[in-house]
Parts: sequence; structure tokens; C-alpha cells
Amino acid sequence: PFYLVMEDDGSAHGVFLLNSNAMDVLLQPSPALTWRTTGGILDFYIFLGPDPKSVVRQYLDVVGFPFMPPYWGLGFHLCRWGYSSTDITRQVVANMTAARFPLDVQWNDLDYADAKRDFTFNKKSFKDYPEMVQDFHRCGLRYIMIVDAGISSSGPPGTYKPYDEGLKRGVFIRNATGQPLVGKVWPGPTVFPDFTNPETHEWWHDMVKDFHDQVPFDGMWLDMNEPSNFVEGSQDGCPQNNLEQPPYVPGVFGGRLRAGTICASSQQFLSSHYNLHSLYGLTEAIASHNALLRVRGKRPFVISRSTFAGHGRYAGHWTGDVGSNWEQLYYSIPEVLLFNLFGVPLVGADICGFAGDTSEELCVRWTQLGAFYPFMRNHNDHGTRPQEPYAFSPADSTIHSKGQWILLPAPLDTINVHVRAGHILPLQEPAFSTAQSRRRGMALVVALTPDGFARGDLFWDDGESWETFERGDYTEILFLATHGAVLSQLLRGSPHLDGVLLEAVTVLGVSSPPRQVLANGAIVSDFSYRSDTQVLRVPVSLPMWEQFVISWS
Ligand SMILES: *[C@@H]1O[C@H](CO)[C@@H](O)[C@H](O)[C@H]1NC(C)=O
Ligand SMILES: *[C@@H]1O[C@H](CO)[C@@H](O)[C@H](O)[C@H]1NC(C)=O
Repeated sequence: PFYLVMEDDGSAHGVFLLNSNAMDVLLQPSPALTWRTTGGILDFYIFLGPDPKSVVRQYLDVVGFPFMPPYWGLGFHLCRWGYSSTDITRQVVANMTAARFPLDVQWNDLDYADAKRDFTFNKKSFKDYPEMVQDFHRCGLRYIMIVDAGISSSGPPGTYKPYDEGLKRGVFIRNATGQPLVGKVWPGPTVFPDFTNPETHEWWHDMVKDFHDQVPFDGMWLDMNEPSNFVEGSQDGCPQNNLEQPPYVPGVFGGRLRAGTICASSQQFLSSHYNLHSLYGLTEAIASHNALLRVRGKRPFVISRSTFAGHGRYAGHWTGDVGSNWEQLYYSIPEVLLFNLFGVPLVGADICGFAGDTSEELCVRWTQLGAFYPFMRNHNDHGTRPQEPYAFSPADSTIHSKGQWILLPAPLDTINVHVRAGHILPLQEPAFSTAQSRRRGMALVVALTPDGFARGDLFWDDGESWETFERGDYTEILFLATHGAVLSQLLRGSPHLDGVLLEAVTVLGVSSPPRQVLANGAIVSDFSYRSDTQVLRVPVSLPMWEQFVISWS
């Protein structure tokens, strides 16, 4: 409930209505706007600027300045719904390392939890969960998992401490008959902690500490905290009263205050949910921030879906389940900038998009944009195409094609190179002149046919003498690849080829990972192979003018 106006002469002012009730804000055609709120106090602030930066500073003087995130929180974060085990989560980290892509924080969605309940973990698929997090710490990584607002309420007494303790300590939001209101979220029937109650903060801290004693996580990701509810109001519906059916309902989701959430007339410690609904995410963020600070003794890192004015003092924000398309990438820019004006600078959208399949081009562009999001996380839905940075082609990329039309992007700074299968190309790295590049080491690119054959040759002379070919004053080397080997044969010529060495052989189209690579009979231990591109790279150091055999099996 805050806006900033740029005036015609470049000065600016801001207006803030500190009010948490459901409200409409309607832009009018004239320089006017209509604000309708359905309750609370009309607590208005007018910020006179006169420049936009001063307006934002004056607003933050009222709602609170942003917290200082830990430095690692500004690094690259990677998450996905569907990392279904510690094995898979470890693989993700290993694949990131192998691809030499920076990673600061590995995340898990609800996959880690036992029956989707907060503060538990699956003792089968995540049996070595604590060890996994410790192993991540040992290689300098941090770890964050999702925490949903709803607490599972359907287990028998004595089977789930967060519910048993919470019930005993009276921390859940109550319905019209004074009992915990039961809704439905991922674990099934759930109750909702009332974070306006100081006792709830103590209980939350105890739950965070209990879990942290088992799994030493570094931050919390707060989701479903509008609070979201899969049934309207509660499992028992909502009563008929003037909070549930007010005389005026603003243009809220579903047209009813309880749509997608809990009953408006449910009771919290401070007041009715009707008055407090918009504060659910903020109050949960405050409790989580304080709990993490007490448990870890370091700067807390909290990311939340639901926010309110002043949220940035305690936590950051991600923009929710965005779709994997260009429009959502585009709209993420004003959204991230707006949250900066709101004093929530730690903000970002899910890089590459969350819902639906991304494409390589979208994901690359979104990663480039994401480098400018203060909170840079790639997060993906389950069941869609993988979008970890290593899931796509490496940069300098390889496409194998046969009898197909493929449209290749050709931006100004990219030259597409096509190599026909069956050919071997000798290459030298470029230098500032050909005089220099002629002295560099050579590499061979061997593009195998499907049955493993290729050939090529090298013609080499001094580059400027008259009629070297006619006079036979040149070197010619034949290269042949067949049966898992590439060999050379000196057909003619001066024996030292200006001392040029063969330094690398790249074989395209090696269909299975080689176990052993030999160069002139000696084992090459530092070869590399990628099964997605079927490319084998063999570093060597061999005189170009002597016959060689490089084989793989
Ligand atoms: C890790 O990389 C390997 C090899 O490319 C691949 O088979 C595996 O699916 C990857 N794992 C994950 C979780 O991305
Ligand atoms: C209040 O919730 C309890 C479950 O905690 C339920 O049994 C009761 O019927 C609910 N009351 C109303 C009025 O919905």
C-alpha cells in the first residue's frame, strides 16, 4: 500500500497507507486514484521527497531499512521440485562442479520431507540428509530447504512433535468454536501457526532448533504463507457473519475473502484473520529471522513468498511460480525493481522459469538477466525439462545431425562451424598474426562417421617460396581414423615441420565412454569424455612430423 509519483518537473512524492485490510486501489484517468480499504485505521504517510531517492528513504524510515544478507546469499542458488533423494541432490552438486559452474547454495523443495511435513525428513530417500548437508559445508556450499506454513494435524498424538507441542502451547489459529482451524495443504489436513502470538515465536524457534540440531541448514525458504489453503476457509467451512460476508469485497482472488485461504473470521492472538491476513507472511518471516539468528548466531537468510510493507527488514522475496516464457522474464524486471523501491532488495524470479519446459535460449538469457537479480536462483517444477546450467550445451556447442534441417542462432558474435562426418581437420590456435600462429601447437578435430571412420591430411610448406608443390618442397601428412584409433603417416617431406607439436585430439561421435586411452602405447590418464555430446578430448604432446597412433577402448 505504497506508491511513488514522478511529477512533471522531475520531483517526486510518495503516499503510504499503513493498513493491512483487504483493499482496492483504482487508477483514475485524471491525476487521481481511489483507495478503498475494508477496515483498520487510516494511517496515512505523505513523503515529500523532493527527489525519488528521498521518497524511498522517507518510506524506509517508517517501515524499516533492509537487513544485511550473508555474503553467500548473493551467490548462485540452485533448486528444483523433484530432486527426489540425497543421491540426486548430490549428483546435482557434482554435475555443477564438473561443469565448472559457480554454486553457492544448494536447495531442496518438499521432496526431502517425510509425508510433506515441516521439520521432518524422509528416512529412506533422504536417509543421509544430515551427512549430505555436512558434506556440502565441507566443500564451501550452503544449504536451504523449503518450509511450508501449514502444520500437519492428522497424525495420531505422539507421532509429530510440531503439532503436539503447538497444540499444547496454543499456537494455532482458531475457528468460531475456539478450536484449531483445520485446512488442507500438501501434507493433507493442516493447522496454521498464529505468528502474531509471542508464544508461537518461541515454539517456532524450538522447532527450528530441533531440526537444525539434526540437519545443519543455513537458511529458510517460506512458502504457502499467504496462508494458502487447498479448501476454501477450512475443512468445516466458515460461519455466516459480517467478516465472512462484508458489505463490500475488494477484487480479491476468487471474489471471496476466504478463497484459497482460511476463514476471514478465524481468530488470531492480535485480532481476527480479517484484519491480519495480509500480515501472515511478514509475521512468519520475523519469527523465522529471529529463530535463525538465535540458532545459528549469524546473519539470517530467509526468502518468503508472502510479504507486507516492512518485510525487507527481516527477509527477501522470490516472485513465486513464474512460467518458463519470455513474457514472464520481461515482467520479472519491473517486479524486481519495484521490490527494491519497497525496501526488499533481496529479490529474484525463478531463473529459466518454474512452470513448463524452458528452452536453451530462454534459459541462457534468463541466467544472464539473473546475474543482475540480487537473489539469483534457478528453480524448476517437477516433471519438466531439466534446466540446471549443465543441462544445456557447453559454450564453444556440439550438435550431431544427419539429414535434418536445424536452425542455428547466429548472433553477431557467434560463428557456427560445421564439420562433415568422416573428416579430420588439423587446427592451430589463432594468434595476433599468422607468423605467430604458425608456431603454435596443433590440434586435430576428428569427426567420425557412424561406423567410426574419418580421414584428413595436412599440407605444410614455408608459406612463401615459389612453386614449393612443383619442386616437392613441402610436407604432407595423412590422418586416418578407424576401429577406435587415429593414426598419422608422413607421406612426404622435410622431417621436422618447424618443430610444431600435436597438443590435442578431439574426437566427435564416440558413442560410448572409453575406459582407456593410449598415445603411442602410453596410457593417457587426463582424457575427458562427455556422453551428452559424445566428444572425447585427448591432451597429448607429440612431434607432428613423427608417426603417431592414438587409440581408445
Ligand atoms: C548428472 O550428470 C549425469 C551425466 O551427464 C547425468 O546422467 C545425470 O542425470 C545428472 N544428474 C542430475 C541430477 O542432473
Ligand atoms: C473448529 O475446528 C474443529 C477442529 O479443530 C472442528 O471439529 C469444529 O467443527 C470446527 N468448528 C467450526 C465452527 O467450524
